[in-house]
Order: sequence, then structure tokens, then C-alpha cells
Amino acid sequence: MPGIRFRLNGKETEIEADPDSLLLDILRGRLGLVGPRFGCGSGECGACHVLVGDRAVTSCDLPLWAVAGKAVTTLEGLGNSERPHPLQRAFIAEQAMQCGYCIAGILMSAAALLKQTPAPTDAEVRAALDRNLCRCGAHNRIVRAVLRAAAEMATP
Ligand code: FES
Repeated sequence: MPGIRFRLNGKETEIEADPDSLLLDILRGRLGLVGPRFGCGSGECGACHVLVGDRAVTSCDLPLWAVAGKAVTTLEGLGNSERPHPLQRAFIAEQAMQCGYCIAGILMSAAALLKQTPAPTDAEVRAALDRNLCRCGAHNRIVRAVLRAAAEMATP
């Protein structure tokens, strides 16, 4: 059985698995990418968000076949400690997390927003993150961090 091919964090990837496997299980369990988190497992909390193309989607309820031929980006593909994405720098600068469990998913939603809307308003940030649940109450800092990253990315 041929594997399912997709581009993962910029690298062509082929995986032999049941096409109905859930993308989150493949990313975490088979490929060792722990950026996307398991929260609710039912598409409600956003902890498992990844980018498919330029859109943030839940990976806990997305079958592997749905990403065949597409580009998937996880937190690991956004940036790392040596080369952090402006969003990651801004979240650290604003201390925009408490327990941090939801932050990977929030970063991916914010990254999708900034691809589509490079200079979002406060209301647009809040709307874009509406599908990401955070129980800690860091919401205002999170919004500030996204706006800070947008401003930094707009600076030549
Ligand atoms: Fe996927 Fe909650 S774990 S939306």
C-alpha cells in the first residue's frame, strides 16, 4: 500500500498508515512532533492546531488522507529556540502564558491570522483566537503578544 505524502514543516514526508488515522496521532505518535497538543480530542479546544496551507485547523479530528499533497506546519516548523518566529518572541516578551498547554495551538492560529491579515485589529485577533480555549486567563497578554508580533513583522 503506498504511503500518504505531504509536505511537513517544509520537508516531503511519506507515511504508511491507515488513511483514516488522525493527523494528530501521526504527528505525535509516529513522527515525534509534540508541538500539537491533545486537549479535547473533539475539535473544540484548539490545542492541536496546525497549519494546512495557510489555515489553522484541528488535527485531532482530521484524517490523514485529508492532508495528502498538502503543506502541513506544526509548531516545530514555525520556529525554534535558535530562530524563533516573531510570535514566539512576542509571547515571551509579553509573558503571554501561564501553564502553556494551549499556547502551541494559539501560536498556530495567530500565525494563520498574520498570514491573512498582517495588521490585525484587537477585535480581529480576538476573533481569530476564538476557537482556542485557555483556562489560565492570559487572554489579554495573548492578544497583546499577537499585536506586538504583527507590529514587529511590519517593521522593515
Ligand atoms: Fe483538537 Fe481539542 S485536541 S481541538
